[in-house]
Amino acid sequence: MRVTHRHVGASPPRVVIAGRPGAGKGTQGARLSRRLRVQYLSTGDLLRHEIAIASPLGNAVERLVAAGRLVPTGLIVAIVETNLVESGYVLDGFPRTVAQAETLFERETLAPTIAIEIVVPAHVALDRLTARGRRDDDPNVASERLAIYETETVPTLEWLEHRGLLVRIDGRDSPDIVEQRVLRALVRACPPATDASVSNARAVPFSPGDSTRVVANSEYAAE
Ligand code: AP5
Ligand code: MG
Repeated sequence: MRVTHRHVGASPPRVVIAGRPGAGKGTQGARLSRRLRVQYLSTGDLLRHEIAIASPLGNAVERLVAAGRLVPTGLIVAIVETNLVESGYVLDGFPRTVAQAETLFERETLAPTIAIEIVVPAHVALDRLTARGRRDDDPNVASERLAIYETETVPTLEWLEHRGLLVRIDGRDSPDIVEQRVLRALVRACPPATDASVSNARAVPFSPGDSTRVVANSEYAAE
């Protein structure tokens, strides 16, 4: 499926990419933003940049990031609001808490069109992280990040699911295969707003156990 920005709705989509540490948010988020020609924003990348240049913000968050702990909501919200443009985005690493999600919805123009959770088991995530070797990929820190994901971010995803915005995809296969799943989920959730797509609308379950959402029944041409 060769999807471009022309295949997904009348206005640029605002996509949240979620998933455990190591799920592939960065890998898929960067690919997707290139394809959609929208901004890619990773809160983790932004924080690591601030730490690398030893800015006041970087110095303030360095220990927390190194320990795998979340940085304070006020700081991260300020970073997102400063850096996020409103005409479409792929947002990686935010929101991670319900409080963060609520701030994203406070500004209608920033509210996401869809949230895609890349699902991988914890042991797969841990294997990937320890193989990569980023500073916070030390096994103890990686385990802490995975634990915080369960306590803080899983409820956030349930919050998004409750609002009919969450799609889950299997992230265990190769990056190319996972990318196809991301694109399929996106095209189903954000069909071009044509009369035909509206009249063809039907309910389609995205995966077993997920909520059912109304999507267009039309096929979107591969380029
Ligand atoms: P962040 O940078 O967001 O890290 P993370 O969520 O722990 O996720 P990772 O970046 O480790 O994994 P990923 O899902 O992006 O996977 P990737 O594509 O890299 O956050 C870091 C820290 O910043 C946090 O701990 C916190 O301190 C702070 N922070 C950030 N946002 C915050 C917020 N909103 N609030 C508060 N604090 C915040 O892939 C991982 C590896 O797997 C790579 O080596 C990749 O090549 C490989 N891989 C990817 N896909 C596949 C595949 N399909 N098959 C095999 N290998 C794959
Ligand atoms: Mg990442």
